Amino acid sequence: MVAAIEIDGLTKRYGDVTALDGVSLSVPEGSFFGLLGPNGAGKTTFINILVGLARKSGGEARVFGHDIETEYRAARDRVGLAPQEFNVDRFFPIREVLEHKAGYHGIPSPEARQRADEALKQVGIYEKRDTRFDWLSGGMKRRFLIARALVTDPDLLILDEPTAGVDVQLRHDLWELITDLNEGGTTILLTTHYIEEAERLCDEVAILDQGRVVTVATPGDLMDRGTDRITVTFRDPIRSTPSIAAGNGQVEAVEIRDGRLVVSASQGGLVAPELVRELDAAGYEIVDLDVSRTSLEEVFVELTRSDSSVTEEGTA
Ligand SMILES: Nc1ncnc2c1ncn2[C@@H]1O[C@H](COP(=O)(O)OP(=O)(O)O)[C@@H](O)[C@H]1O
Ligand SMILES: [Mg+2]
Repeated sequence: MVAAIEIDGLTKRYGDVTALDGVSLSVPEGSFFGLLGPNGAGKTTFINILVGLARKSGGEARVFGHDIETEYRAARDRVGLAPQEFNVDRFFPIREVLEHKAGYHGIPSPEARQRADEALKQVGIYEKRDTRFDWLSGGMKRRFLIARALVTDPDLLILDEPTAGVDVQLRHDLWELITDLNEGGTTILLTTHYIEEAERLCDEVAILDQGRVVTVATPGDLMDRGTDRITVTFRDPIRSTPSIAAGNGQVEAVEIRDGRLVVSASQGGLVAPELVRELDAAGYEIVDLDVSRTSLEEVFVELTRSDSSVTEEGTA
């Protein structure tokens, strides 16, 4: 099967800034893929290259098997992009903007109108169809960018920080919309610096830092790399640490805090039941159990922590 996105050794330099430093990635068709990274990591640059808004300095990039430069048209027509920054014709009613966009991608006129209406309905701003972009509220502007990405019925939908600065209601609406699209077969590439968003939505995430892919994994696998904490509360507070065999090899620390037992372990969800059985068998009376998983955020911070004592002098 042809991947939705296939990138090999992609580089991008802006003067002496290396925005992308040899990125290789494969995004399977139909997946919900997250591109995660701190500001300046190169996420927007990566996307801009895919859609022809920036020119790569080196490497290869294909969209559904089409080279993004030599087969630009074929690649570009499969993609809908909701960019991070607003870049919209401000002076036309938004429905017209969408019709033009559809027309530009080769959709004939009556169908373009129909697609425009449909896209506006999908994002919930159909009543605003005769309004100019300028006159929309901030949240509606975001919705409109997504409608514009959807008007060509893309096979790959790219969303560059779609929920940055939007309210909770809109964020949830957007999540629902893109989840539905993905279930209908659209491949989604989402960049975000909201970890919760990636955790909740993505099948797979690539963590990008300083123009390099640090890791590619499922959110669950990433969290399994961190340390979870199991807190056990007993009817009678304990004073001495019970010997624990549970979680063979996964337990990293055992301590007592305020009469409770606190066990640090990888994959705490798997260790906890074993731990409870063992304590129970040893005669402890448990009244409460709490497992707090490492957040993806902690793992993310760990992976992208820049070591300020080592400054990499550029090979740029
Ligand atoms: N047009 C540009 N000219 C010069 N430098 C740029 C340009 N666009 C991005 N950069 C630089 O490239 C790096 C990556 O930026 P960007 O792709 O916007 O990161 P992100 O989207 O992850 O925040 C940053 O150091 C940024 O300053
Ligand atoms: Mg960006």
